[in-house]
Amino acid sequence: MAFVNDDNITEIALQRWGTAHAPRMAELMTALVRHIHEFAREVELTEDEWLAAIEWLTATGQASDDKRQEFILASDVLGLSMLVVQLNNRFSPAATPATVLGPFHIDGSPPVPFGHDMSDGLPGTPLFITGKVTDTDGKPMPSVVLDVWQADSEGYYESQIAEVDEARLRAKYQTREDGTFCVRTIAPLGYSIPMDGPVGDLIGKTDISHFRPAHIHFLIDEPGHRKLITHLFQNGAQYLDSDVVFGTKDALVVEFAERPAGETPDGNSIDQPYLHATYDFVLEPTSG
Ligand code: BEZ
Ligand code: FE
Repeated sequence: MAFVNDDNITEIALQRWGTAHAPRMAELMTALVRHIHEFAREVELTEDEWLAAIEWLTATGQASDDKRQEFILASDVLGLSMLVVQLNNRFSPAATPATVLGPFHIDGSPPVPFGHDMSDGLPGTPLFITGKVTDTDGKPMPSVVLDVWQADSEGYYESQIAEVDEARLRAKYQTREDGTFCVRTIAPLGYSIPMDGPVGDLIGKTDISHFRPAHIHFLIDEPGHRKLITHLFQNGAQYLDSDVVFGTKDALVVEFAERPAGETPDGNSIDQPYLHATYDFVLEPTSG
């Protein structure tokens, strides 16, 4: 019988984890063992360093609850979330590209009508986002639900504010017969990811910028089409080229054009200047 030594330990661990009952689990676990053993060898990992890593992982778990997910944040800042998005969303080049979901989406946002103001009087510059939803053949898609969410003008999402008991800066819009939609809200600002936890501690020991550029999130899950999770970013916004979660893409950067007080894109009027962005979302059919 072969006892374990540092020459054969990887092979023995691979044999053990290769016995996983599900073939995919065996594939995942043996690859993980191979890579973490290789990592430890490459950097000659010390016992103190491994203990520090375990303490960091423990703190990351302890910082997480039903409102805060520090592990998602860790995956985001390591670029792993965005890599997994890229690997799993190789859409047709004609379709709107995907980006990270992030930790702040809340299920069950209220359905609202065309042009509804989802900022509900919160301070900020009024912003209208209009456009249409089509398929990759350019066919307009009626009755498509756009689940929209964003941070407020101080960079906070609803789940980061304790005393909120109704939907705040999030809503579900629907396209009209001709595929058009109109979101009314306030302009988002760039914001810092939460820095008061273990991820922030780690980032604080580097020169990494901890900010995201101004953006609004969209989720469109239309039957018969690939689910689209994406953002629109404001052209010219700070941090576009240093997004801490690697989520920015050229095709998702749009102009927030300045408009004078007067008629709004939904045919109503406003007594102050506002911003107007236009974007057509293109969904890829799953078959045919
Ligand atoms: C967000 O865009 O909401 C987000 C994404 C990843 C990490 C933190 C925030
Ligand atoms: Fe965000």
